[in-house]
Amino acid sequence: MNIAASVGPALALEVADAASIAELRHQAEGCTRCDLYRNATQIVFGEGSVKAEIVFIGEQPGDQEDLTGRPFVGPAGQLLDRCLEEAGLDRQRCYVTNAVKHFKFTPRGKRRLHSKPNAGEIMRCAWWLGAELNILQPKLIVTLGASALYAVLGPKVKLTPQRGHILHPTNRPPVLVTIHPSYLLRIRDEAERRRQRRDFVSDLHRAGEFRPQ
Ligand code: URA
Repeated sequence: MNIAASVGPALALEVADAASIAELRHQAEGCTRCDLYRNATQIVFGEGSVKAEIVFIGEQPGDQEDLTGRPFVGPAGQLLDRCLEEAGLDRQRCYVTNAVKHFKFTPRGKRRLHSKPNAGEIMRCAWWLGAELNILQPKLIVTLGASALYAVLGPKVKLTPQRGHILHPTNRPPVLVTIHPSYLLRIRDEAERRRQRRDFVSDLHRAGEFRPQ
């Protein structure tokens, strides 16, 4: 076991010990660290380049991710892909993962409605996230939304005041704080949605331009 060097002080737990992402993913397939595995179809582990310089962290898999076993393939993921392209970033050269790796939902008829993971579920899953970050050692972490920010930097750092900023925690890679793409899908007002989308693309562009000092 390693002590997580990569997660925030609130979540400075021990993390899984593995030599590679493939080994870690294999270990995670049997995860029962919280109850979410009981109703989910499968674990949705991070994916992308193991040489990635940028790691994107979302909240948790959604319905389509749960069914396919791949992160960010549903509506929010497709929007993320379009915004990454506009920002000049190649998703294949990055690594994309989630703070929580099983889908949490409430059944509503035939639908499964996304349900926000709680602090305990995020902390339990930091076992995997911290290990992913330890193995990948990215030059930059991009947190997409509040749950990812919480997972990496703990409860004291809030999304709205830090959005668009690059934070420099000690002993960890720098963290660029931004919104979750699903937020853009929920904004009703078109002008506001356009403004937020432009700012999101600008945050992603900043991530691509970032060079460690
Ligand atoms: N939202 C997330 O945070 N992650 C996914 O993989 C899909 C939607």
